[in-house]
Amino acid sequence: MAKLTIMDHPLIQHKLSLIRQKDRGAKEFRELVEEVAMLMAYEVTRHLPLKEVEIETPVAIAKTNILAGKKLGVVAILRAGLGMISGFVKLIPAAKIGHIGIYRDPDTLEPVEYFSKLPQDVADREILVVDPMLATGGSASAALSVLKNKGARQIKLVVLVAAPEGVARIQKDHPDVEIFTAALDEGLNDHAYIIPGLGDAGDRFFGTK
Ligand code: PRP
Ligand code: URA
Repeated sequence: MAKLTIMDHPLIQHKLSLIRQKDRGAKEFRELVEEVAMLMAYEVTRHLPLKEVEIETPVAIAKTNILAGKKLGVVAILRAGLGMISGFVKLIPAAKIGHIGIYRDPDTLEPVEYFSKLPQDVADREILVVDPMLATGGSASAALSVLKNKGARQIKLVVLVAAPEGVARIQKDHPDVEIFTAALDEGLNDHAYIIPGLGDAGDRFFGTK
C-alpha cells in the first residue's frame, strides 16, 4: 500500500493555517502556497543520493557531499498545481517541468483530461506530482495513469490538503506511489469539497470564480 507521510514541520503547519483562512487575499494566498511548496520540496527530497567530492575552501582541501545527480521532474496538475511549481523549482532548479491538465466535472465529479505535456525522458526521472488538493482522488489518479502510460515508474504525489477518501483512492489505484501531504482532513462535503479544507484552490490562487 502507498505510504502516506504527513509533513508536520511547524512552518508548514503554520503557513497552511494562514492559507486556509477564508479572508486571506489572493496575493498572500499565492505567496504562502509558494512558501509551503518550497518547504514540502525540502522534505520530499530528503532521500536524494549524495556523492563525495573534494573541494578547496579558502582554508583547506575538504571532502564534502554534493547531489549525485538523480534526475527529477516536477509535474503540475492544472490549474491549481501550477501554484506549487515555483516553490519546487526554487529548490530544485534543474528539474524538468511537466503539465497535466485535468479538471473535475462539477456534476459527475469525474476527472476530465484536456492537456498533457511531459518531459520526453519522463521514464528516466523521479517524478514529483504536485496539486494542492486531494479530494476524491479522481484527478490525481488520472494524472498518475497518464504518467505511467508515458513510462514513469518512480512517482511521488505531493499535496497540501488530503481527504481520507482521496488517500484511499490513490492507495487502491496506485499502491506504488508515495503520498506526501501537509494535512489529512476530516472528509468531503456533498459537493466533494474537503472539510475543512481551504475551498477551491484554483479559484483562490487565480482569483476566478
Ligand atoms: C481541483 C484540485 C485537484 C482536484 C481535486 O482542481 O486542484 O486537481 O480539484 O479533486 P478530486 O481529488 O476530487 O479530483 P479543479 O477540478 O478545481 O480544477 P482547477 O485546478 O483547474 O480549478
Ligand atoms: N478541489 C478544490 O479545489 N478544493 C476541494 O476542496 C476539493 C477539490
